[in-house]
Amino acid sequence: MAGTLVVHFGHPMSSSFPTIPRHSITTSRRLLLPSTAATITAKAKLANLSAQFSAAPRLKAFKSTSAMAELPKTMKAVQIDQTGGVDVLQYRDVPVPGDLKDGEVLIKNEFIGINYIDTYFRSGVYNPPSFPYTLGREGAGTIAALGPNTPSDLKINTRVAYFSGNSYAEYVRATSDKVMPLPSSIDTKTAAASPIQALTALTLIRESHPVQAGDWILVTAAAGGVGLWLCQLLKAVGAKTIATASTAEKRELAKQNGAEVTLGYYEEDREKFVQEVLKITGGEGVAAVFDSVGKATFDSSLKVVKRMGSMVSFGNASGPVTGFALSRLTDKNIKLLRPSLTSYITSREELLPYANELWKFIEKDGLSVKIHDVYPLKDVKRATEDIESRKTTGKLLLEP
Ligand SMILES: NC(=O)c1ccc[n+]([C@@H]2O[C@H](COP(=O)([O-])OP(=O)(O)OC[C@H]3O[C@@H](n4cnc5c(N)ncnc54)[C@H](OP(=O)(O)O)[C@@H]3O)[C@@H](O)[C@H]2O)c1
Repeated sequence: MAGTLVVHFGHPMSSSFPTIPRHSITTSRRLLLPSTAATITAKAKLANLSAQFSAAPRLKAFKSTSAMAELPKTMKAVQIDQTGGVDVLQYRDVPVPGDLKDGEVLIKNEFIGINYIDTYFRSGVYNPPSFPYTLGREGAGTIAALGPNTPSDLKINTRVAYFSGNSYAEYVRATSDKVMPLPSSIDTKTAAASPIQALTALTLIRESHPVQAGDWILVTAAAGGVGLWLCQLLKAVGAKTIATASTAEKRELAKQNGAEVTLGYYEEDREKFVQEVLKITGGEGVAAVFDSVGKATFDSSLKVVKRMGSMVSFGNASGPVTGFALSRLTDKNIKLLRPSLTSYITSREELLPYANELWKFIEKDGLSVKIHDVYPLKDVKRATEDIESRKTTGKLLLEP
């Protein structure tokens, strides 16, 4: 707007709001100033505005729009100061994230999703960028503050799910590229369980190997978080799943979630596992393997892929796959992929169609998530030990 200075402000200059940045605002708190103000320096403008904003009308505007007024200065979070066993997990007080940047929102977590990848960052399989490091990569809750230039569908109090780092905490900062508004039909536990595991499963069947109705597909760790979503999605699109899991109870669960056939891992005799899969598929092999176990199952998984099929290795639960000779692909012209959700979904334009497709699968095809347990955030060690013990099925959640 020519000759007009648009100014954003986020909170009064009161000492009870020290962690809230001045630019953490909603559009409803934009002020339009006369053009004469545009001639003063940036510093002077700020001083000028501070004086103006201490007037009563500004307080009224603030009160009417802000959930930020309730924000505390500190919050509980789970951090590590070094990698290692579960004893490195520290439940402690940390500052509530402030100074939201362009496109960022602050989310008050209702539930936080646990993912196996969290254990990689804790143990050192993957390197945290710096210490202290707040673990966690997803959750669901409501928006508590907005940075500048956030999309119009994200407002204060909007219910959202997200996948973004440092989520083992009461509040988390997230870039709007990773934040999905929730339809009213999606409950918050399902939402917190979905961003990483359900979207990973969806991108695997759409992008890594575009699954066709009638395809035979092998899924490892089929009763786990990603595994149960895969079983349900594959059933919904008309594929036939061979599900592997370590116990009879887990295999039964995979079957209840849509698997056609279930198998153990045949740890003592992997060749027998290969023969079983070939028998089930009429000697041909499967169109694709979605393998999250990694090191322990990679070889047998590769052997059961049919000619021109896909070997999709997307996890390291038993350790990373290393030292692979590409020449092993030539006999059957197999496509080998090592995909990651965050390389499939890098923008809001890529995120929202996937989110909408997922909500539709839940609403129309009745897909659901099995919640293994909800742990208080302070019990993070117990939750972590449980997922690493291989005793869990479905999704583990933390509640701050
Ligand atoms: N690439 C991506 O973008 C992406 C995204 C999400 C997840 N992932 C990967 O997908 C996998 C599953 O993740 P999740 O969060 O859904 O976890 P999860 O499947 O709920 O838990 C891991 C499961 O792996 C199986 N497993 C096999 N060998 C194991 C071992 N040596 N130690 C522990 N578990 C073992 C266990 O099932 P059984 O007892 O039945 O074998 C266990 O329940 C993980 O490897 C994760 O890193 C990748």
